[in-house]
Amino acid sequence: MNCARCHGQDVLPNPVAANLLISLGSGGPISSEEEFFEVVNEGRPARGMPGFKGVLSREQIEATYAYVKGRAEKRIPPGRPARPPA
Ligand code: HEC
Repeated sequence: MNCARCHGQDVLPNPVAANLLISLGSGGPISSEEEFFEVVNEGRPARGMPGFKGVLSREQIEATYAYVKGRAEKRIPPGRPARPPA
């Protein structure tokens, strides 16, 4: 809801902003959850990314990190998750 308009639906690359599949992939510039937290909180105002401090809670940013990291490591495919077997 907050990130896709710049970083792409399902984190699929979008020319507007950094490709987070690369940023959080192996050897990428965002190598820890703490760095991710910092960028999301403070934003990169000079480069066009707003900060989300006061908008997203720590838990919401952690959940976003877990998802983006899983996408970057190809553990989570794009699209909606499959329903668990009944
Ligand atoms: C208005 C557009 C916009 C929105 C919305 C936005 N970002 Fe960004 N984001 C950017 C841009 C542009 C950059 C590249 C900044 C730069 O070049 O340093 C960036 C950079 C980043 C980076 C650092 C990538 C790197 O390689 O250094 C992370 C992590 C990130 N965004 C996560 C998020 C998350 C998570 C959200 C949603 C909570 C979000 N962004 C919402 C525009 C946006």
